Amino acid sequence: ADALKIGVAGLGTVGASLVRIIHDRQESLAVSCGRAIEITAVSARNRDKDRGLDLSGVTWFDDPVTMAKTADIDVLVELIGGAEGAARAAVEAALERGLHVVTANKALLADSGVELAAAAEEKGLLLNFEAAVAGGIPVIKAMRESLTGNTISRVYGIMNGTCNYILTRMEKEGLSFEDCLKEAQRLGYAEADPTFDIEGNDTAHKLAIMTALAFGCEISCDDIYLEGISNITQEDIRAASELGYRIKLLGVAQRTEGGIEQRVHPTMVPHDTVIAQVDGVTNAVAIESDILGDLLMVGPGAGGDATASAVLGDVADIAKSRPGTQTVAALGRPAKSLEPYRRAR
Ligand code: HSE
Repeated sequence: ADALKIGVAGLGTVGASLVRIIHDRQESLAVSCGRAIEITAVSARNRDKDRGLDLSGVTWFDDPVTMAKTADIDVLVELIGGAEGAARAAVEAALERGLHVVTANKALLADSGVELAAAAEEKGLLLNFEAAVAGGIPVIKAMRESLTGNTISRVYGIMNGTCNYILTRMEKEGLSFEDCLKEAQRLGYAEADPTFDIEGNDTAHKLAIMTALAFGCEISCDDIYLEGISNITQEDIRAASELGYRIKLLGVAQRTEGGIEQRVHPTMVPHDTVIAQVDGVTNAVAIESDILGDLLMVGPGAGGDATASAVLGDVADIAKSRPGTQTVAALGRPAKSLEPYRRAR
């Protein structure tokens, strides 16, 4: 089969990880997807920055919209971020042109997810966004695929790695809020504008997406009660601890008699619960539904490789979306290098 050609818009922490991973794993990806995945174009603002990437043979664009409109690609991978501006324009241009889109952009989806999805569906295109919520944890797939048929009563969890990282280090090491935030930025967890992390907006974007998937209701950040962690002090953390609680920034959406309630705020969580013990950049998303029961998924919620892993999964889904390229590849071709132990007969 022909290679799937992708254009990566944005070479920040996630974009750079994605380019490196696809470059390093060409052969195994071609086996698992049934066709090669090839990065043929990238775009970023600063061409001179050393990202340590091998971009030979890849066409460089300074402008993502020009890339979306003209590059030799089948898929636009949008990793710029932000609800407006270049990210939005590039996604719209790609759909207009008939390209599939993979995006990690929760702000854009929380703002215009329905319009963009409608534009994609009108043309028979895929719009995949696993990386938009909880980094590498497959919460979107769980919601859209695995839980089909379930009636969901509640979705909640830790959905911002930066905040959980800050709260954990403040508690365990007594560090100041500011120092922890700087470290989270250095590690590539925080948003370009970290107020989105610490004031809860990023969690609200993710919660709004999860709410729409869980309850089939409108994506609306305006209806979310919002309170971040910037006012949390060492005294708060200590007082909570003495009472047997840990402070976590939770996003919660639940069915109530009055409709779907959505809120984001620091929450006292009993220390012996699983969620309370989720530390650092790790996220945890709980989904309560009627057929399955309670599901809790815990894993890396931010950072280059974790987020790139989810983006890559979305790209692979597009590569495999043609009939006849799925099951044999998934179950293992002779080309796969690991052999099962042979049992003596
Ligand atoms: N800034 C986000 C976080 C990145 O800290 O969780 C992942 O969406």
